[in-house]
Amino acid sequence: MSFIKNTWYAAMWSQNLPEDGMVHTTVIGELLVLYRDMNGLPVVLQDRCPHRFAPLHLGKLCAQKSRIQCGYHGLEFDNSGLCVHNPHSETIPSMAKVRAFKAVERHSLIWVWMGDSEPLENAIPDFSLFSEVGTNRISRRESIELEVNYQLMTDNLLDLSHVSFLHDGVLGHAGMVRGEITVEQDGSTLHVKRSSPNVAPPGMFDLLYKRNGLPVDFWADMRWNAPACMLNNAGVCQPGSDRSAGISLLGAHILTPISEFRTMYHFAAARFDENVRRNADDERFIFEQVSNLRRYAFEEQDEPMVLAQQTAQIAAGGLGVLKPVLLNIDAGPMRARRLLEELRQIADSSESEDA
Ligand code: FES
Ligand SMILES: [Fe+2]
Repeated sequence: MSFIKNTWYAAMWSQNLPEDGMVHTTVIGELLVLYRDMNGLPVVLQDRCPHRFAPLHLGKLCAQKSRIQCGYHGLEFDNSGLCVHNPHSETIPSMAKVRAFKAVERHSLIWVWMGDSEPLENAIPDFSLFSEVGTNRISRRESIELEVNYQLMTDNLLDLSHVSFLHDGVLGHAGMVRGEITVEQDGSTLHVKRSSPNVAPPGMFDLLYKRNGLPVDFWADMRWNAPACMLNNAGVCQPGSDRSAGISLLGAHILTPISEFRTMYHFAAARFDENVRRNADDERFIFEQVSNLRRYAFEEQDEPMVLAQQTAQIAAGGLGVLKPVLLNIDAGPMRARRLLEELRQIADSSESEDA
């Protein structure tokens, strides 16, 4: 499977990259070690020593975090990946270097540019509303590792008709199944919008809204940017009224491929519910419930279904072998797949791709 290389991938939430010490992860098959330099800026290196390929995260940081020392035989590399110290001799072999990746901390995430071309900082999708810290407007920022291909999970997120079945009683219900769907493209950004007027409020939105179960207009507008960075504006309002008079929840759904069949799913939600008054304890309780419900839906409902869907395709020869029957609800996922392929050819046209 080939992945786009010349693009930004969210490696992790900022909160998971400590001030001191190292963490490691894998992005599109590349083993990475991450740490912060003495100024707190993220450093990302290939997590494989060029000597005998020990993972560098098993070593230690030294020289005030300007070097990383391999834990096996002590070669030291600076933050650009060059070997600057060989404890066994005065000679440093010219091949003694590790690859350094451009990294940027933005919107409370650590983004890594995985290709060789010049990184485009303005190409990082806008998740600025997740930059807030210390407010109770942002849910827990969480990450779970899924044993599924990231494009299958993208299909799941760009076709939210499944909430009526897979998330019945939590994020949706049978009464919402006939939604109106529109797909719009703005440059390389895709918007997949779904609305269900005059329906009973889905469970989580009833919790956030008036908790009276009366009908609402429901919407879910998903923004997609390559490779799999999504922002869902979902909400409810009184039937026929302006959306601004209701409440909305903006959900970050960012999928970072680890390998063909493993994906890191980063998610969080920001709420906009100023139209509902609550006391502080009630607010905290409700948003803790929202965090729990979302995690339950993604981990206990989406992942098992997508994994089973993947297993069925692998049994038939692999992903992409079977030709699916297409429904109107597939318009968003199909457009995203086409756009991703176009962008992949443009972004990586000068590079050889992963096999
Ligand atoms: S494996 Fe790193 S110095 Fe030997
Ligand atoms: Fe889902």
